[in-house]
Amino acid sequence: MPGREQGSVKSPDLGPFSTDTICHGDALDLLPRLPAGCIDLLVTDPPFAIGFRAQRLNYHRTGSHVLDGYREIPAHEYGEFTMRWMEEASRVLSPSGSLYVFSGWNRLKEVLNGLDQAGFTTINHLIWKYQFGVFTRRKFVTSHYHILFAVKDPRHYTFHKVEHYPEDVWVINREYWKGKKKTPTKLPRTLVQRILSFSSSPGDMILDPFLGSGTVAVVSQEMGRHFLGFEVVDEYYEFALQRLQEGRSSPALGGGELTGKKKHAEGEN
Ligand SMILES: C[S@@+](CC[C@H](N)C(=O)[O-])C[C@H]1O[C@@H](n2cnc3c(N)ncnc32)[C@H](O)[C@@H]1O
Repeated sequence: MPGREQGSVKSPDLGPFSTDTICHGDALDLLPRLPAGCIDLLVTDPPFAIGFRAQRLNYHRTGSHVLDGYREIPAHEYGEFTMRWMEEASRVLSPSGSLYVFSGWNRLKEVLNGLDQAGFTTINHLIWKYQFGVFTRRKFVTSHYHILFAVKDPRHYTFHKVEHYPEDVWVINREYWKGKKKTPTKLPRTLVQRILSFSSSPGDMILDPFLGSGTVAVVSQEMGRHFLGFEVVDEYYEFALQRLQEGRSSPALGGGELTGKKKHAEGEN
């Protein structure tokens, strides 16, 4: 619904999808079924095309607790894959919509090209620094990700300045899930809470087309945002569903919202 007021109470029209649900399927098939302009904020951590299955055993974790079956994209297809989903992202975002996309350094080129080709304006190039990386012998240990904050219209987008001096390097630890099932690439909740606090309002519609363990949907639910998510791997989809159901039975509506002097700074540098 292009032109809707940010922050107003809405019941989003998602075409064949219901609001506050997640779907099992391929994002490249599902995204084209969404109506244009129905999403306020898209937050996603797409597959990285770095042969993750081979690498993940290097993490110091109990293998049996790590969910299997993560869907990777072959490196030579990554540019095309990125272009396809980003063009759809641009179509489904409202005119004042924003996108946060995560990228490792090795696929950053394709992600930056995709943003440009899909017509986004990149507002910030954030660095997420976490507390450990995969052990190396002949090179530095990678312990950061890139997060590109991009918008459709640089003169009109949501930005709640909930901190006086929000810097573009975020030091946020990964979470340890002792004894529980975990997915190898799960985002920390505080990281997603931070994105949602700055770039969305209660009642906004949040989409993550590559859900994994479902952190973006789980945090959206906790913070009183509407959400929709897609995940192609059955085991991950079921795990995300379970997390959402657990969240519903012990709701923490509004939990995780960063507070502070709120100021709309649309289009400001
Ligand atoms: C980096 S992980 C996301 C991790 C997530 N942010 C979390 O907190 O757990 C990317 C996910 O995208 C899924 N995926 C890969 N290709 C997909 C596709 N075409 N459609 C939907 N999901 C896909 C993978 O199975 C994986 O779970």
